[in-house]
Amino acid sequence: MSSLDGSGQVWRADLYAQHARFVPELGQAVLDLLAPRIDERILDLGCGDGRLTAAIAGLGATVVGVDAAPDMLAAARERGLTVQQADGHALPFDGEFDAVFSNAALHWMTRPDEVIAGVHRALRPGGRFVAECGGHGNTAAIRVALHAVMRQRRPYHPVNDPWYYPHPDDYARRLAAHGFEVREMQLIPRPTLLPTGMAVWLETFTGSVFAPLPPAERKEAAAAVVDLLAPALRDTEGRWFADYVRLRFSAVRT
Ligand code: BEZ
Repeated sequence: MSSLDGSGQVWRADLYAQHARFVPELGQAVLDLLAPRIDERILDLGCGDGRLTAAIAGLGATVVGVDAAPDMLAAARERGLTVQQADGHALPFDGEFDAVFSNAALHWMTRPDEVIAGVHRALRPGGRFVAECGGHGNTAAIRVALHAVMRQRRPYHPVNDPWYYPHPDDYARRLAAHGFEVREMQLIPRPTLLPTGMAVWLETFTGSVFAPLPPAERKEAAAAVVDLLAPALRDTEGRWFADYVRLRFSAVRT
């Protein structure tokens, strides 16, 4: 089963569980920054299959997860979590959360002011917005290779690039403009081992980039991207790394 979010990305819970397990596993630092308390009500924005949502619930807080992708929500429900479908650009909550948490999701939401306004609305005064996402320079090599291959195959067409990777200055300015006081804002290079390799990473996350190509051409195009990336992202032992750069921040609703 598969599902679509607003970016056109096909989200499949089975592929995600197989090839992107490291995403929630690397979420401990942002969980520590959240430091959920037992009596708190927390919104997990872009909860995916609910691995971190469950971790927050396990610490005693009451958690609601939202995600745009029905397939991921179904996987989260199987964990017994309370989740609902919502577009992160139009969150339907009003002053009801002590904290909004998000891991590896905000970079799929390309209209940040709508997202931040919805988070602000969802929080009580004094509530926290604590998140980690792709930041400026994230997947730079992967992005360049995708653009190179797609431009060669579809000259004069814009590339369907689904990501927003803000610089800390950009995101801090937007948070302040929406009524947040920024407490912490860090850009952290984090090359990340891809245990199952680059080809399946592309298969899991870049469907919307290749979607304009005829289906018969997509595998070949992805193979060309892998080829371009090998000198930069494959090490001497044949292991693949994604050139991740994390933006991690904490802000308080004033
Ligand atoms: C990220 O976590 O930075 C990411 C994951 C998949 C696609 C693009 C970026």
